Amino acid sequence: MNAGIRSFRTTPKRKEKRGIFCTIGRCTDCMMIVDGVPNTRTCVAIVRDGMQVKTQEGLGSFEEKKGEDK
Ligand code: FES
Repeated sequence: MNAGIRSFRTTPKRKEKRGIFCTIGRCTDCMMIVDGVPNTRTCVAIVRDGMQVKTQEGLGSFEEKKGEDK
């Protein structure tokens, strides 16, 4: 939000933009991909240095982390 970003995700069917709404972890409008994990409610996530936060398109998907064994 400090960077001026207001769209955090898009809806699965209509691709509509969503952003902060409830700010208490109830509505899911703030879900983003955090450190490769989709559907993270960012309004209640604890911020830390090095955190990778990306806009989530639709349902989102897990991203493979480079260098990790499967
Ligand atoms: S803004 Fe509603 S869950 Fe985060």
